[in-house]
Amino acid sequence: MTAQPPPDLGRFAASRPQPKAGILDIIAYKPGKSTADGVTDPLKLSGNENILGCSPYARDAFVEAAGELNVYPDSRGTALRNAIAERWKLEPDRLVLGCGTDELLHLINQTFLEPGDNIVQGQYAFGAYGIGARACQAEVRSAPEPNYRIDVEAMLALVDERTRLMFITNPANPTGTFTTKDELRRLHEALPPSVVLVVDAAYAEFCTDPTFTDGLELARGAEAENIIVTHTFSKLHGLAALRVGWAYGPVPIADAIDRIRPPFNVSVPALTAAVAALADEDFQAKSLALVERWRPWLTQQFGGLGLGVVPSSANFILVEFPKTPGKTAPEAEAFLATRGLIVRGVANYGLPSHLRITIGLEEHNRALVDVLAEFLSRP
Ligand SMILES: Cc1ncc(COP(=O)(O)O)c(C=O)c1O
Repeated sequence: MTAQPPPDLGRFAASRPQPKAGILDIIAYKPGKSTADGVTDPLKLSGNENILGCSPYARDAFVEAAGELNVYPDSRGTALRNAIAERWKLEPDRLVLGCGTDELLHLINQTFLEPGDNIVQGQYAFGAYGIGARACQAEVRSAPEPNYRIDVEAMLALVDERTRLMFITNPANPTGTFTTKDELRRLHEALPPSVVLVVDAAYAEFCTDPTFTDGLELARGAEAENIIVTHTFSKLHGLAALRVGWAYGPVPIADAIDRIRPPFNVSVPALTAAVAALADEDFQAKSLALVERWRPWLTQQFGGLGLGVVPSSANFILVEFPKTPGKTAPEAEAFLATRGLIVRGVANYGLPSHLRITIGLEEHNRALVDVLAEFLSRP
């Protein structure tokens, strides 16, 4: 056989690698800050992490997993899958485990969106939905959120024949508000069956209101062919560093997502620690009790300082500052940082007059209120 001459690729000589259309228009997700200039050990109240850490059993399980770092994880995450299914009364085969909810959100977008499709979300939606959709060259449609709440009719008004996904965060980040059972049901019923309703329930465990649902009661039903609910171990369980989330949907959707899921996306230490965390109901109860103890107190204190407070059902509170120079949200953020308290500016969510503040331990919360009182009383 005679050797073929190499193909002449000279015509490409002037070209350079180019991200596909739209990628460079995406504004990258900006995580909460974790450092403050000139402060050695600041307190991070900007990431909605669990201030109590995590379950000691989860930590022990993580350490134990260090003994098998040479082994790939179980691609199906069977032990965690079964533990989640048992705890939430779900069918194991309808679960997809992810490297945090973040990965699942990307996978959901990739599974459903073609260029020219669109997603519908609320005005203050969590940034990951839009980033993932834009990466698929889809359009992002945002419905107004009067009073910082999802408006069912406004969301539905944006749906058209190219809508493939609708995202609801329940409770929402960064607003902390929630969509009720009735609203979610109404939304789901009115959606064309071709549109998948994605309920991101990252903060669900912090909402104990009887009218709340994380969407699982809708998703469990055999007739629920177009609803996915996601949960995370990053918040109540305090395992943000390990990156574990899960999605629950109908079998055909779980199957489709699984086809593009990286096979070993959840690591052995993460899987093991998450199983242990799920079993530690005492730690979960303590974490919830802390939030339930300090959320009303902080809400009342912020209000007492004359700040606007959005009623929260999560482990953080959205606070509105005056527009008066010297008293604005960015200035408050900077002032708090000088005292070692890092909170989250949310201008990138279209909320330049607000700060999002994670609920801390008693001493943190009291310090926060004191420093804010000082900030606001400055001449
Ligand atoms: C609303 C919402 N969804 C998803 C996530 C991502 O969670 P995970 O840590 O599971 O990726 C976050 C993280 O802050 C969030 O606020």
